[in-house]
Amino acid sequence: MRKEGAAKVCGTARYIDDITLPGMLHGATVRSSIARGRIKKITFDPAIPWGEFTIVTAADIPGANCIALIQNDWPCLAAEVVNHPEEPIVLLAHADKHRLAEAVAAVRVEYEPLPSVHSIAESERKDAAVWGEDNVLKSYLMEKGDVDAVWAGADFIVEGEYETGAQEHLYIENNGVIAEYSDAAGLTIYGSMQCPFYVHKSLVKLMALPEDKVRVVQVETGGAFGGKEDYPSMIAAHAALLVRKAGRPVKIVYDRAEDMAATTKRHPSRTRHRTAVTKDGKLLGAEIDLVLDGGAYSTLSSTVLSRATIHAGGCYFWPNLRVRSRALATNSPPHGAFRGFGAPQSLFAIERHMDRVAAAVGLAPEELRRRNFLRPGLTTSTGQVIPEGVDLEHLLARAMELSGYKEKRQRFARENERRALKKGIGLAAFLHGAGFTGSGERRMGSVAAMDATADGMLRVLVSSTEFGQGTNTILCQIAAETLGVDYGVVQMGPADTSVVPNSGPTVASRTAMVVGRLVESAAKEMRHVLTEAGLIGEQYSTEEFQRAASMYVGKHGQLRTEGHYEAPPNVFWDDELYRGEAYGAYAWAVYVAEVTVDTVDYRVAVDDFVAVQEVGRVINPVLATGQVEGGVAQAVGYALYEKVVWQKGRMANNQMTNYIIATSQDIPPIRVYFEEVPYKYGAYGAKGIGELPMDGPAPAIVNAVSHATSADFCAVPLLPEDVMTKLAQVKSQVVEVVGA
Ligand code: MOS
Repeated sequence: MRKEGAAKVCGTARYIDDITLPGMLHGATVRSSIARGRIKKITFDPAIPWGEFTIVTAADIPGANCIALIQNDWPCLAAEVVNHPEEPIVLLAHADKHRLAEAVAAVRVEYEPLPSVHSIAESERKDAAVWGEDNVLKSYLMEKGDVDAVWAGADFIVEGEYETGAQEHLYIENNGVIAEYSDAAGLTIYGSMQCPFYVHKSLVKLMALPEDKVRVVQVETGGAFGGKEDYPSMIAAHAALLVRKAGRPVKIVYDRAEDMAATTKRHPSRTRHRTAVTKDGKLLGAEIDLVLDGGAYSTLSSTVLSRATIHAGGCYFWPNLRVRSRALATNSPPHGAFRGFGAPQSLFAIERHMDRVAAAVGLAPEELRRRNFLRPGLTTSTGQVIPEGVDLEHLLARAMELSGYKEKRQRFARENERRALKKGIGLAAFLHGAGFTGSGERRMGSVAAMDATADGMLRVLVSSTEFGQGTNTILCQIAAETLGVDYGVVQMGPADTSVVPNSGPTVASRTAMVVGRLVESAAKEMRHVLTEAGLIGEQYSTEEFQRAASMYVGKHGQLRTEGHYEAPPNVFWDDELYRGEAYGAYAWAVYVAEVTVDTVDYRVAVDDFVAVQEVGRVINPVLATGQVEGGVAQAVGYALYEKVVWQKGRMANNQMTNYIIATSQDIPPIRVYFEEVPYKYGAYGAKGIGELPMDGPAPAIVNAVSHATSADFCAVPLLPEDVMTKLAQVKSQVVEVVGA
């Protein structure tokens, strides 16, 4: 049973908006109404009794005016200039939250407008330098072999350009925090978040407080998907500033419209491929140019771009490859982490492009892929050697068989000529690196701990957070298994920075694999300590173990053990050359989508979906299956429905009525299959799973739509109007050819 399941089902779980502290005020944010400009003047309408309100501007920040992430260019509050719509400028707090909307509207900000850029193309043309000198937030060059030498000997050179749109997380619970302060305890933040220590780090810097005077506690969190990786630091910073000025606790909870308009989204992308291939379909080399729209500040763009770059070549062997990638600034709210973290963007491009290369060569899409799959002994785009056990060919064969791919591919093409409802089937093969990229895990040096209470309850102490994915359950399962005790006696400690060690942020599909392994070490150590103390033998019951633990606590005051991160041997990463072991392990998958395209109203329906993956050992089949089903559902929205409409950098459709996501009506049966190849350095052989299922559905679905319509679609979201426009073009071309 899920650790937090009963509390959620019974309604006793307390989310941030369920919590009220004595004397608490409510906070609200005055935001920029323009995309870019200089702040000339801020005036407060005298109709409002401002004496009742706490008012905070950038001038009230005691430390550095930034949200500390990587480059620290993201202001907590705009002081002189604004660089995107919805940028926070002034904070207000009042005891009555119903008084805030009117007050926010009564703060007038006068601007001197500055030129702004609103697309990758505009940013690239440097229509205006809106960040640094050239709008480049970050760039990478990743090279393997000598790609310049391959073009002359190629039988075919295939080019393509692919685009993906922004995507809103739409976690069920909006962002929210409560801050309180006392001289004795310092600042305490309670909030909905993924990464308590990220919030801690940024508040220490912003509030100029010693580390032990900032405490961050994650409370029950209703979904995140990457969207609560960086933004909670911003909203916590705002609440902290209001508390400091008001001297009373402050709660800030965004409503849906504010959350959608002001917080981060998935980076839009544009990827250009140029591929050299032989007439037998052997890939000789490729040049890939990848651009992400980073929004107004660098925030997490460099790490998102890094993952996009490393995944850009997909799951294929490239003897020669050059990937140039850039994250460019535009004047929209910063784009941030979202499940997949750059990989869905670059994998959409490569997996659409593979179908196009196959068509150019005259091979079936699956056959071109099969001939070029990474296999044990071959090297990835970064030169990482593929270990024994990786078998994409088997995953492909299984996915094709389970979906009836071969038969349908032929039959649909035959039957489509005679019908308006056109059927198609398409596939995508892909990989996802688990854990931090390169030396990230080594640098992070995560620690997990376990302790025992006097009454013999065993606790897992980590900063890893539960937000629906099943972390609590998985980590307790791992601890119970290692200790040899019942799952019921293992509990999660609070995700409270004053109690738990820093096991790193809950991101990058790293929790089961990396943190799980640390919990395993901490549990082994606890067993070892009790064995050494002579309190348990080889064999014991759960009760005997608990009794031993309480005796130890009685005697020594506490029983607390730790597990420390150790990098797997022979893992090297060169950050300059972008070469080496990019990830401890990759998960592998082949997904197949079956669709119907209605050529009267241009709707696309996904009829069936087969997801075959190898994620190492599956620790909890129900949760793992849930991760895949959820990821596929979210990616169906990414592929077919979710379109952010931008007006001068502002999301115009920031409501659930006009930003359309997939509902249960739109989701096909999702048939999930696992192959298990244990990974030696993951907890009980597990690799990461959280992000993988977001990567493959969009290309598989668009490949299927292209199959159904015999038209080449190269962008997501693929809305009915896009299908209509393209099919109208194709039709007029056919008419022209016939006419000629
Ligand atoms: Mo993430 S997208 O929370 O690594």
